Formats: sequence, C-alpha cells, structure tokens
Amino acid sequence: MSHRIAVIAGDGIGPEVLAEALRVVRAAGVDIDTVHYDLGGARYLRTGDVLPDETLAELRGFDAILLGAVGTPDVPPGVLERGLLLKLRFELDLYINLRPFTSGPIDCLVVRENTEGPYVGEGGVLRKGTPNEVATQGSVNTRMGVERCIRFAFDLAQSRPRRHLTLVHKTNVLTFAGDLWQRTLNEVAADYPDVETAYNHVDAACIYLVESPQRYDVVVTDNLFGDILTDLAGAVAGGIGLAASANLNPARTGPSLFEPVHGSAPDIVGTGRANPLAAVRSAAMMLDFLGEADAAARIEKAMTDVIPMSGTTSELGDAVASRL
Ligand code: IPM
Ligand code: MN
Repeated sequence: MSHRIAVIAGDGIGPEVLAEALRVVRAAGVDIDTVHYDLGGARYLRTGDVLPDETLAELRGFDAILLGAVGTPDVPPGVLERGLLLKLRFELDLYINLRPFTSGPIDCLVVRENTEGPYVGEGGVLRKGTPNEVATQGSVNTRMGVERCIRFAFDLAQSRPRRHLTLVHKTNVLTFAGDLWQRTLNEVAADYPDVETAYNHVDAACIYLVESPQRYDVVVTDNLFGDILTDLAGAVAGGIGLAASANLNPARTGPSLFEPVHGSAPDIVGTGRANPLAAVRSAAMMLDFLGEADAAARIEKAMTDVIPMSGTTSELGDAVASRL
C-alpha cells in the first residue's frame, strides 16, 4: 500500500534537507506517493498567499505532511509562523509535538503540548505606539487539552523501559495554569500505577538538561516551555541539525505533520552545509506513525552510524540511504 504524502519543502535549506529525507524513505523500500505544495516565504512574497483555504482542505486528505522549513528574511515575523505553521497545528488538531533526543548523554522524549498555551494568540494591544501602550498575551489551558497531552505522555512512558515521566512547568509562579497541569497529572497518574512521575520547574529543568540529562525519560510540558526546552535539549544532544519533530493528531482525524526543529537557515543555502539528519529522522517518525515501524527502525539504526560523520548534505543523505 502506498502512503500519500504532502510535501512542503518551503524555503532556504528546506528543499535541500527534504530531498535527502525522501531519498532515504525510498531507499528504505517504503512506497510513497508525494504531492509537492509550494508554500512558505517565497510563495508569500510572490503571491501574497500564506495558506489558502483550498490548499488546507486538500492537505486534510493526505496520510501525512512532511515539511522542510519556512521563512525568508523579507517576510515580517509572525506572518508565516501564525499563518502557516501554527494554522496547520491548530486546524489539523496536531495537539502533540513529539521531540526525541537520543544522542550524546541524553535519551529522552519531550511531549510538548501543541495547540494551547501562549501560542493561541489570545490578547491584544491598546494605544499602540504611545507611551501608554498596553500589550497582553494570555496563556490558554483547557482541562481537555492538558489531559489529552498528559495521557499521551503517560502512554509513551509506559511503553518505555524506564517508565518515568517528568512534568515541567512553573507552578510556583503560574499558579492557575500550573495547578491545572499538576492536578491533571496527579489524577491521570492513578491510571498508570507503574509509571513513576517527577516534577521540575522549567528554570531548574534547564540546569538539569545541561548537567544531568540522564535523569529524563519522557518529559511533558506546555507549548512555550516545550519550545524553549527542546532547543536546549537539541543543543545538548548534538546540535539542532539532529533535532526532529512530529506534530501529531493521535486521534487520526486528519494527517499529522513531520518537520525538523531547525529553520530555513538562509545563510547556508546552496553551500551543502545543511545537516539533513533532522529531516531524515522526522521522516522516520512519519513512517513509524504510518505503521512502517520496521523501516523507521532501520533508518534510525543507520543514522546512529552517520551522526558522528561529517559531510555535505547529500553525502550524509547518501550515507544513511546506502546503509538500508
Ligand atoms: C518550533 C518553532 C515554531 C514554534 C515557530 C517557528 C512558530 O520555533 O517548531 O519550535 O515556536 O513552535
Ligand atoms: Mn522552536
């Protein structure tokens, strides 16, 4: 059976790393049908479109979406982030952002809530540009949204040898949202008696990630803390060139989206210096989610050999493909 994949290569190094990821998927013997969508900064500058409704409707029909990177220096901040990436996360209800870190001293999975928190765009501005300007940006946390994320994290922790789950938040200051997260975790924990739980404030978690990252197995956290923490974890685990992510709709009411954590890196476009391994690992996560666990595991295994190697974008892609 062939999987129908929408490919959004995007801007900058996006197309370069995705070409390698697709090559690796094919080398793994998985049958995919791809349709390429021209979306991102270049498209926006040319046409003024970010994500037209018809395109979004088409994307809903795929088995998965593979995205390279979007962003060009001439597009103002927020246009593509809100109009494309966050719109896809919200509209497709991709409520889990799963980010694995498995090299160097660390073997952990971060489960980042992906549809709530400060990302929803709640708030506004008054008297803009005056000395009395007021800006608010609230964090939205629903019991349903928090609970489904925490349940996903418990399921994941239960499936791993260590069966350990850490909640990261800032319950000492964010007393409303933090309390909802902590209480929900405590209640859900009753359904998972063999998973051990821990709690860290996010600032302390930044120290622990650097000084003793082995303490973490599965980490669950809110959208913004998860954004920041996973860049740090990426740096600890060998650099952002290896950091992959899966934006999941675990209910499978539509396609999930897989993308490297890194951006479009316009400064290195065309130099062959972009590391394709984050995109390759994101594609492996896609295959795993599509039921191709064997191919995903073979790609992961091949990557372990290739991670310490140096080479150009296509040399590294080749190195993974030739091991399959
Ligand atoms: C990420 C990115 C996005 C985020 C931006 C580009 C909207 O930083 O995927 O981590 O903040 O989630
Ligand atoms: Mn980020």
